[in-house]
Amino acid sequence: MISIEGLSKIFRLNQKQITAVDNLDLTIQDGEIFGVIGYSGAGKSTLIRLLNRLEEPTSGKITIGEQEITALSKDKLRVARQNIGMIFQHFNLLWSRTVSENIAFPLEIAGVSVEEREKRVNELIDLVGLSGRENAYPSQLSGGQKQRVGIARALANNPKVLLCDEATSALDPETTNSILDLLVDINERLGLTIILITHEMHVIRKICNRVAVMENGKIVEKGEVLDVFLKPKQPVTKKFVEQVMGNQDGDLEQLLVDHTTGELVRLHFVGESANQALISNISKEFNIEVNILQGKITQTKLGAYGTLIVQINGEQNEVKNTIHFIKEKTSVEVEVLAHA
Ligand SMILES: Nc1ncnc2c1ncn2[C@@H]1O[C@H](COP(=O)(O)OP(=O)(O)OP(=O)(O)O)[C@@H](O)[C@H]1O
Ligand SMILES: [Mg+2]
Repeated sequence: MISIEGLSKIFRLNQKQITAVDNLDLTIQDGEIFGVIGYSGAGKSTLIRLLNRLEEPTSGKITIGEQEITALSKDKLRVARQNIGMIFQHFNLLWSRTVSENIAFPLEIAGVSVEEREKRVNELIDLVGLSGRENAYPSQLSGGQKQRVGIARALANNPKVLLCDEATSALDPETTNSILDLLVDINERLGLTIILITHEMHVIRKICNRVAVMENGKIVEKGEVLDVFLKPKQPVTKKFVEQVMGNQDGDLEQLLVDHTTGELVRLHFVGESANQALISNISKEFNIEVNILQGKITQTKLGAYGTLIVQINGEQNEVKNTIHFIKEKTSVEVEVLAHA
C-alpha cells in the first residue's frame, strides 16, 4: 500500500510562493492501476516526483509498503528507489547508448554482475516486445518503441511500483493503445502497482481501476473509474468525462421540448448490464413502445457503462409498470426526466 498524508510542496520563485501540492491525502492499494488526472499546472508531475523524492516535500509523509520514504536518508533512498520505476513523456533515454545498454543502465548502478545483467536485459527486451532491436540507438526507434525501452529500463530492478508521468502523451492514438496494453500486461503479470498521471480521460477509462482528479494541488474527487464516469460531481471532472462521452445532456432541453408524450427517462447502465437486452426485454414484456433518443455506452476496465435517454410511450399504467420493473428487477438505474 502507498499512503500519502498531508503532503505539500511549495516552490519559492523570486518572492513568490507556488503551492504545487497542497496538503494532499491519498491511499493507493497494492496491484492497482491508479490514475491521476488534471489540467496543466494542477500539480500532477510534482505529486508523482514527490513519491520517489525527485522533489523534496515541504511537509507530509509518504509510505510505500513498510518504508516511510519521507524519513529515509539519501543512501537508504537510493536503495528504496530501486523499488520505484518511473517512465516519462519524453522517454529520457540515453542517446549514445543502444536499447540494451539503456536497459542495462539501472542494473549497472545497482551493481548487478555482467552475466546477470545480460540475462535480465534479454528478459526485459522480450517482455516489452523489442526483440531484434537490441542494438538500435534511440534515434533509430519510433516513439512507441522508445517508450518500450523506457518501460523496460524502469522495470529492470523488479520494482514494486511504476510511476508514469504522461507516458503516452507524445504518442499517436494507436501507439498509445499498444503502450497502455503493455502496462496492463505488466500490471497483471508482475502484480506491480502503477500510478499514472495524464490529462487524457480515455487513458483513465482504458486501464485504470481508480482515479483521482487533481486541481490546484488538491484532489477534488476520487473513486472507482466507473463511478466517476457515471456520476462526476465536480465541474472539472464533468469536463474530463465529456472528453470521452461528449456532453450527454447537451440536447436535453431540446429533447424535453420535442418529446411531450409518454415518459422521458434516463437509464444508467453500469457494468455487464450495459447492453440492449433491457430495451428488447421491456418491449416484449410490456405493451409499450421505446424510442432511444440519445446516449452513449462505452467500455471501461470493469465493464461497460453509459446512459441512454429513452421515451416510453403507452398506456399510463403500463408505462408505470415498465419503470417499476426496471427499477426493481434490473441493475439499470432509472431517472425520470419528464412525463406527460
Ligand atoms: N521547479 C519548480 N519551480 C517553481 N515552480 C514549479 C516548479 N515545478 C513546478 N512548478 C509549478 O507548480 C505547479 C504545478 O506544476 P506541475 O508540473 O506539477 O503541473 P502538472 O499538473 O504536471 O502540469 P502539466 O500537465 O502541464 O505537466 C505549476 O504552477 C508550476 O509552475
Ligand atoms: Mg506534468
